[in-house]
Amino acid sequence: VVIVLDFGGQYNQLVARRVRECNVYCEIYSYKTDIEKIKAMNPKGIILTGGPNSCYEADSPTYSKELFELGVPVLGLCYGAQLMMHVLGGKVERAAVREYGKTEVLVDKQDSKVFENISPKTICWMSHFDYISKTAPGFTISAHTADCPVAAAEKPEEKLYAIQFHPEVLHTVEGKEMLHNFVYNVCGCAGDWKMDSFVESSIKEIRKKVGNGRVLCALSGGVDSSVAAVLLSKAVGEQLTCVFVDHGLLRKNEGDEVEAVFGPEGEYKLNFIRANVQERFYEKLAGVTEPEKKRKIIGEEFIRVFEEEAKKIGAVEFLVQGTIYPDVVESGLGGESAVIKSHHNVGGLPDYVDFKEIIEPLRDLFKDEVRKVGLELGIPEHLVFRQPFPGPGLGIRIIGEVTAEKVRIVQDADAIYREEIANAGLDKSIGQYFAALTNMRSVGVMGDERTYDYAIALRAVNTVDFMTAEAAEVSWEVLKKVTSRIINEVSHVNRVMYDVTSKPPGTIEFE
Ligand code: XMP
Repeated sequence: VVIVLDFGGQYNQLVARRVRECNVYCEIYSYKTDIEKIKAMNPKGIILTGGPNSCYEADSPTYSKELFELGVPVLGLCYGAQLMMHVLGGKVERAAVREYGKTEVLVDKQDSKVFENISPKTICWMSHFDYISKTAPGFTISAHTADCPVAAAEKPEEKLYAIQFHPEVLHTVEGKEMLHNFVYNVCGCAGDWKMDSFVESSIKEIRKKVGNGRVLCALSGGVDSSVAAVLLSKAVGEQLTCVFVDHGLLRKNEGDEVEAVFGPEGEYKLNFIRANVQERFYEKLAGVTEPEKKRKIIGEEFIRVFEEEAKKIGAVEFLVQGTIYPDVVESGLGGESAVIKSHHNVGGLPDYVDFKEIIEPLRDLFKDEVRKVGLELGIPEHLVFRQPFPGPGLGIRIIGEVTAEKVRIVQDADAIYREEIANAGLDKSIGQYFAALTNMRSVGVMGDERTYDYAIALRAVNTVDFMTAEAAEVSWEVLKKVTSRIINEVSHVNRVMYDVTSKPPGTIEFE
């Protein structure tokens, strides 16, 4: 295992992801993790992430010097690099200017193990205010930029490497190679971790854990819960019951589509129950406008419905959830990253839930890894490559209060948008696209009438990992067609907007 020690930066999951892309297993832990625990894991390498603090300030996240004396290779990134220098006797200071964005880095030490086969001038993603003004004793500067004297430094005899920029971000053109170099050349990892070993070992683990117990699975029809359900059904077959909560916040016709695949007429032999609780959710959400509150309500109500269904079924010991790793980290449960959004899959689980245990078989996987598992389990491609849909569904695509009428508006607009994107042949090439309902109303004119109606926002993004994303360049032709159809066919909409914001600074969803 390679350990990523999280100091609170936003790219931390990406670090873990890139390492796994090298077929090396990797886990994220908080910087507060005890040194004994780290030693016990016997890691092949340790990567220190970026973070928002200044390492020279008294209460900033830090780690004891011992970490660098274990003989285990350590790579510090951004804050992690500064911290390494600070702890080992170098100097970190606030720079006159912030270095931010794509920056040309000049490699000074071509024979550095981490810069093997890296171009002498290479574009890297910088994001820092503090800089290393003096390296710690024994370190050599291995790269610099016009503004930053120490873009990278190393002490190869002790296997310590510091990089000021972010190799984990795709904007760092050769970043993947650098991380690859670290885990292979410095840590000596074998690169033999694969997905199929995951399927086998999960099935074994689930069987052992569940025994003869009964299992209830939360099925949403999305990729994650579908893969989780099929994995569970392979492990424990008839002991599994899947409950599909139709909370009335799904895309148009989606409830019926999910039933068609997983219900009695579908190809899987699951015990399938559809809970039609649309009204109940609308009632709970009436008058609520604050995004986090909406998410909490939806998440909690979900659990309530499961409890009720579980009671009807009789004794159920286990509850399965399709939580994946980004949900865990973005909800602030793994590592140290700030809470961006409380993810529905993770949040809202109250103490008095009366299942014996939660099973989250995909908890350690990233989205593309979940897809690989899905394919390996023989789940049809159209399900595996389905575009993601958030747990709270349209609840977070309707800005402000959710009502049945608004759900209808956004469902209809979204269906038109999806249809036209498919007609234009773009449905496979765009990462995620959807319509959202803004809570803005504005004046328009239709026929000879003044209108005062809602604005629909269209979003389409391309993304590799959903942690960063760019707005997709959908042509005017397609956008105009979608706009005119939405305005003509969906009542109470008189304006359509296209969102060109990337992530960051925006998020993909609106709430
Ligand atoms: P954001 O809006 O955070 O979205 O940029 C990143 C990806 O996550 C999806 N998303 C969610 N998925 N439960 C989920 O299962 C949630 O609460 C949730 N919120 C966002 C979003 O659709 C995008 O793919």
